[in-house]
Amino acid sequence: MRVSAAGLVALLCHLALTGAWDVNFKRDECYKYGLENLPERMPATLGNLVALLEKMEGSHAYTNPDAIAEALIHRYRIDGITYASPVANTFWDPNDNYEVNKADLLKSLVTMDQIVPDFTFESREECAIHFMLSHSVDLYPHPGLDYVWENSNLRQRRRRRRDAQAEGRYGLPLNIKPAPHPIENGVIWTPSGPVAAGTLLAGIMVTDTSQGMTIGQIYQSTNLEFMPDLMQQKRVMPLHAATLAGDIGQSALVGYVVQVASSDIYLGPQGMFANSTAAPKLFTLERNYNLNIPYLTRAEVYAGIDSLLIQKVLMESSNNQLSLSEALRMYYSDHGLPNYPDYKACNRMAAFRSLDLALIEEQALNYMYVFSGKIATVRDKMQQYRDDFSLIERAFKDALRLAWNAVTSFVDSYDYSEFDRCPTYTSSQVLAENRVDLLAVYGYEGGETEMQKERDYMAHLGQLLDVGVDRSRLGVLDGKSAKWIFPMTNFSNVADWGSNFSESTTNSYGSGSDMLVVMSGLTAYYLDFYNHLWSDVNNASANAQVVLWNAPNSVPQQEEFQKLMDDFKLKFPDVYFLFVGKSRGSFNGLMVDPNKDYFTNSGQDMVAFARTLATRIRELPTLFTYPACDPDNGNFTNVAESSHIYTGYITPNFTTYIKIAPNYFRFSEQVVLKVTEGDVSICASRTSVRVESNVADKLCSDTATLEWWHLCDRWVEGCDAIYLAVTGSNIRTNAHCQDVECQYPNQIKFQMQHEGLTCGGGAGAAPPALLLLVAALLALLHQQNP
Ligand SMILES: *[C@@H]1O[C@H](CO)[C@@H](O)[C@H](O)[C@H]1NC(C)=O
Ligand SMILES: *[C@@H]1O[C@H](CO)[C@@H](O)[C@H](O)[C@H]1NC(C)=O
Ligand SMILES: *[C@@H]1O[C@H](CO)[C@@H](O)[C@H](O)[C@H]1NC(C)=O
Ligand SMILES: *[C@@H]1O[C@H](CO)[C@@H](O)[C@H](O)[C@H]1NC(C)=O
Ligand SMILES: *[C@@H]1O[C@H](CO)[C@@H](O)[C@H](O)[C@H]1NC(C)=O
Ligand SMILES: *[C@@H]1O[C@H](CO)[C@@H](O)[C@H](O)[C@H]1NC(C)=O
Repeated sequence: MRVSAAGLVALLCHLALTGAWDVNFKRDECYKYGLENLPERMPATLGNLVALLEKMEGSHAYTNPDAIAEALIHRYRIDGITYASPVANTFWDPNDNYEVNKADLLKSLVTMDQIVPDFTFESREECAIHFMLSHSVDLYPHPGLDYVWENSNLRQRRRRRRDAQAEGRYGLPLNIKPAPHPIENGVIWTPSGPVAAGTLLAGIMVTDTSQGMTIGQIYQSTNLEFMPDLMQQKRVMPLHAATLAGDIGQSALVGYVVQVASSDIYLGPQGMFANSTAAPKLFTLERNYNLNIPYLTRAEVYAGIDSLLIQKVLMESSNNQLSLSEALRMYYSDHGLPNYPDYKACNRMAAFRSLDLALIEEQALNYMYVFSGKIATVRDKMQQYRDDFSLIERAFKDALRLAWNAVTSFVDSYDYSEFDRCPTYTSSQVLAENRVDLLAVYGYEGGETEMQKERDYMAHLGQLLDVGVDRSRLGVLDGKSAKWIFPMTNFSNVADWGSNFSESTTNSYGSGSDMLVVMSGLTAYYLDFYNHLWSDVNNASANAQVVLWNAPNSVPQQEEFQKLMDDFKLKFPDVYFLFVGKSRGSFNGLMVDPNKDYFTNSGQDMVAFARTLATRIRELPTLFTYPACDPDNGNFTNVAESSHIYTGYITPNFTTYIKIAPNYFRFSEQVVLKVTEGDVSICASRTSVRVESNVADKLCSDTATLEWWHLCDRWVEGCDAIYLAVTGSNIRTNAHCQDVECQYPNQIKFQMQHEGLTCGGGAGAAPPALLLLVAALLALLHQQNP
């Protein structure tokens, strides 16, 4: 092969920028700038982890969840890294021996040989995975960590306890006071609280369901003179060593060693992400424990529970097609795991009880036994009592009880301070889902703080709406110039985008809005969108089209604007408008439902605000389209209506809404809609977008066929759309949706056919365009002949 000089230069530049792939992960690269380059780091979020998993699954032939998890843990997880003494040259090294020993133990239980294929990730991504998977608590007082606590309302709740005295743990220099808010590394943001991602993947990696190994086998019977024989025969199961039991056992044993009887030491405090949850880079803890590092943090408890629940479902053979990214996306959303709708993060405290708790407790005890071999002081003590196993057992059980009780009482009486309970759904509240093209209009209102809030909630919204390749899309239009800040995109990593957007200062300045200019920008965009949609006669469905407008406090040139809006809605009846602002007054006439479609972003919590928006957006209808109705396209005149088939996807127990605009049936006599495939139920209304149960015109069908007569009068403006509610069957199946269009693997594919859509062309009437032309001519004639 010949490489041209130009090509070579380009290649070398590429290598210089991205760094060549190294068969051994070089963690030094990630710590080169310490914490100085946090803005360039990828966010520590579930969304980022999922996007990186999707990237690997897309480029890897063998995509079993356990193999993917194992390859990532194998290459990137290095627990116990702290910033210690620059003098001893051991900063950013695995300095915490308790964590290092724990990782070694796991390696003797699980053989890790899966590898990450060469060039799967760029170096920035490699570091991100390393940071997300590698757990440690770092007591070094790095600057900038108190900021988020000083500006938080949590700060007032508990006063800092006594000042910690330095005892010189793992090389923290004697003259250095530990950080009041230590960093907990290896924690990701999820909608349901912080999660230690290394623990999460470690449990998923373990498919070994055997009884595991005896302690004697683990140590290969060497250097075990100190340990009673009965103890050597205890078994440690890899799944439990890798998850909750391992962390509880470790915490109990370390607590025993340092002889702290207060329950503090067994369970870590709350934490917060620095500096925001929209671009989270570090997780810091509310307080230090006087140099006693918590070896069981809340993020580890959550991850341990999550990992056990997810692993249990993955191990069922019926779920052997579920990918790791899908499992995580579902578990951390309203969906829950396939056929296990109660197995979801927001319900983890309840789902925990479905696990074998007695086994976890027993495994925690056995973990203490095996871990004791790694701690010199414990070894020595055991040597003294080698002949009295029952005495040792009692001491260990006492220590375990404190840790176990700390965990179970935490779980049983959880106060939901870090995440919200799952929303409860009554019969009138429906689990809604859709795919959406969200066009956000970026407003320059209210100064820098407001703009920061705007970017933060958008970052969250992109993730909550599950934007991704073959899923929802997102675009951001400048509210003043109507130029794209980000064109409508199916982001492959919306979490990274959102984190960048949140931190970007280029969008912090300027002021004012130009709603008229934006309106013409929207018109141009949707004209193009519909041209594309209508270019293929087989197109039948499209994502919901939603404009989310961050608007000024009042509409300038109100009459003129209202007229533009009315024209727009006539042209693009499917596009739905939501507004965010401070004063609804002059917007009332612009919205379909002013009580639901105007939002005020006044709270502090951008996650909650994004969630409110996402809930509303998910219940907006997706598009039904019938390109043969395009009056300007002569190519489609002889299309058989029966060949135009609507295909949709819906999760069991969920509902999606579809809108059929009146333009498609304006002159119809009879319209028939028939579901020809898919275990779904269908209802319709012409007055209620969500086809609510109490509306008078609600129409449902047992035979999956709906029928209407004479739907419109003369004018399309006065004619209501047809709104459909399609609900996926609640029956459990093992079906696995293969189409790329499926958002979730357990979705039901359904198809609909229609009869009698006349596009305004039937019943002897002229198509709309022609009518408009006639009207224009008449007007012209009228003017010329007074
Ligand atoms: C958080 O923000 C403050 C103020 O902008 C800054 O001083 C501090 O360094 C930031 N901390 C981190 C960890 O990014
Ligand atoms: C989605 O993104 C991929 C690249 O990530 C691109 O190839 C594809 O054309 C995009 N699809 C749509 C519908 O925008
Ligand atoms: C985010 O910013 C980094 C540079 O800091 C860049 O390399 C990366 O491509 C950006 N990500 C997205 C999704 O735009
Ligand atoms: C409509 O058809 C065109 C051409 O086949 C295709 O590119 C486009 O993605 C389709 N639109 C939708 C929303 O499916
Ligand atoms: C009709 O079909 C022809 C030939 O395929 C194509 O060039 C033309 O653009 C089509 N017209 C429209 C309006 O799509
Ligand atoms: C649907 O919801 C009901 C009630 O929560 C549940 O019992 C059933 O298992 C769910 N069906 C599926 C397929 O998830």
